[in-house]
Amino acid sequence: MSQMAAESRCACCCGEESEQVLQERIRQIAREYRGREGSLIQVLHMAQTIYGYLPLEVQQIVADELGLPLSEVSGVVTFYSFFSTQPRGEHTIRVCLGTACYVRGGKKIVERLQELLEVGVGDTTADRKFTLEVARCIGACGLAPAMSIDDTVYKQVKPERLESILARYDKKWGDEQ
Ligand code: FES
Repeated sequence: MSQMAAESRCACCCGEESEQVLQERIRQIAREYRGREGSLIQVLHMAQTIYGYLPLEVQQIVADELGLPLSEVSGVVTFYSFFSTQPRGEHTIRVCLGTACYVRGGKKIVERLQELLEVGVGDTTADRKFTLEVARCIGACGLAPAMSIDDTVYKQVKPERLESILARYDKKWGDEQ
């Protein structure tokens, strides 16, 4: 279990449910689906909704309760891109590194975001606010470089604008401009 995950859920008075409680809930749900053909993806979806992502210990619970080999469960988790084995941030940032964006400064956008958020590509910030990813093309080539945060596309992005964009999602970056 990662330290980040352990820190993000606790059993104190903060209202977050402990990992044990979440895992027990997943165990109960998976148990109900045991023997039902084709239920693995459905159970994994529910497990990811409950837990936020699918670390190995959660995959093991699902495998045990459905009576499947762990290798089969892990195979499905890695095959489908909508399953994640890493903690996800509340918001997903995708910086386009397709050709048009790359030549117009997409790489500088990635580098500045890595500096600001103190994460690498594919990682989630310590406060689990943002996950940083790159994409090949997000359909805004004419106004490159582009990036998206969740469903919103930002065009002609400049590194110096990034903090004000982040501020729309997290006040710690200042007031939105
Ligand atoms: S190449 Fe970046 S939006 Fe198409």
